[in-house]
Amino acid sequence: MRVAMIGSGYVGLVSGACFADFGHEVVCVDKDPGKIERLKRNVMPIYEPGLDALVETNVKAGRLSFTTDLAEGMKGAQAVFIAVGTPSRRGDGHADLSYVYAAAEEMAPNIEGFTVVVTKSTVPVGTGDEVERIIREANRQADVAVASNPEFLREGAAIADFKRPDRIVIGVEDDRARAVLEELYRPLYLNQAPIMVTSRRTAELTKYAANAFLATKIGFINEMADLCEKVGANVQDVARGIGLDNRIGSKFLNAGPGYGGSCFPKDTLALIKTAQDNDAPVRIVETVAQSNENRKRAMGRKVIAAMGGDARGRKVGILGLTFKPNTDDMRDSPAIAIIQTLQDAGAQVSAFDPEGVEQAKLVLQNVDYAESPYAALEGADAMVLVTEWDAFRALDLARVKALLKQPVVVDLRNVYRPEEMARHGLSYSGIGR
Ligand code: UDX
Repeated sequence: MRVAMIGSGYVGLVSGACFADFGHEVVCVDKDPGKIERLKRNVMPIYEPGLDALVETNVKAGRLSFTTDLAEGMKGAQAVFIAVGTPSRRGDGHADLSYVYAAAEEMAPNIEGFTVVVTKSTVPVGTGDEVERIIREANRQADVAVASNPEFLREGAAIADFKRPDRIVIGVEDDRARAVLEELYRPLYLNQAPIMVTSRRTAELTKYAANAFLATKIGFINEMADLCEKVGANVQDVARGIGLDNRIGSKFLNAGPGYGGSCFPKDTLALIKTAQDNDAPVRIVETVAQSNENRKRAMGRKVIAAMGGDARGRKVGILGLTFKPNTDDMRDSPAIAIIQTLQDAGAQVSAFDPEGVEQAKLVLQNVDYAESPYAALEGADAMVLVTEWDAFRALDLARVKALLKQPVVVDLRNVYRPEEMARHGLSYSGIGR
């Protein structure tokens, strides 16, 4: 099947490359000529393990191509995906849909024959209705159906998530659209991925509900971690103790510095707005979002407390900047608020991250970027592990001890065992233990 993917960012590129890998013929379209030119040379705009190889194979096989020309990209396409960004609108937290609507407007004149337009971007309930209205108004002859097909891809594991999803959600109002999308996803169906067909609005809401629920799990265990610290309990055991109950499930119960990334912070806010507008406020999600925001700065204060309560003139070595490992994404990373809190209190920060430094430079000031984890710790008054990159899991602790001026380690991901740290003479604090 011919597929056009509008927007060659994270979601568009991963989805496009995976569809191509399943044998479909995919054209990825993007307005940014630099990005398209680089993609043609197999230079990825983002860091995602395995993506460059997947793109290269499928380009060579003639199933995947790139263009800035929307009309060319849509030629013969039975399915046209909208995978453009939906950032938080400045000021009010509503999702900014201007890119989605612009894509709808621009694609309308190029629709030939029956075409299913599918929103993959995370969009508030009712966006599909508006996309359909825009297209019909711009091209009255268009034989078009608008569907919703939210993605559930985790950065760093996006290809595996696409190819072996827990489920595929398709929201349609039209049997022909359903048939096209089922055909498109048939290769995955053979992998036994359940395909759920719902109404368009239900599919749109399902995406927000999934992310809000996962954010709530994290928010819940983070609060339990704080309580564990006060009452002398161990949050990892609590998480295991509740997670083994099948009704709860053990995933997304790792206590940490708070969630970040391109999805949870933005999508919880957008859901809160939609709920308020519809007079059905989601108080639990409101609390989760607020508590997560507060937590990030609280982690900075935790580091200051570990250094004895005063950060002035101190040097802090930060390991990990991205919001999670295996990505270069700094969006809403807890590291930002933690570092700013430390700097506001008068500390100097040196940091190491395997992939995130370039992005970090755009959002952080006055940070010394080190070439290795050890270089970041030289002469520091504390080591703070913010992101659990594999490279930080087996540090040479004797070397760490020798490099640090004060033997203080704050492990915001509970990577290390307290006994092991104590053995090396390091004064260690984790989360909720
Ligand atoms: C998420 C969803 O998982 C994905 O389905 C959706 O489509 C997009 O949003 P992503 O943002 O890539 O994916 O990252 P994820 O792995 O879910 O982690 C999100 C944040 O939560 C990270 O900051 C991570 O460190 C944090 N987290 C996750 C925890 O603090 N504890 C956990 O147990 C799990």
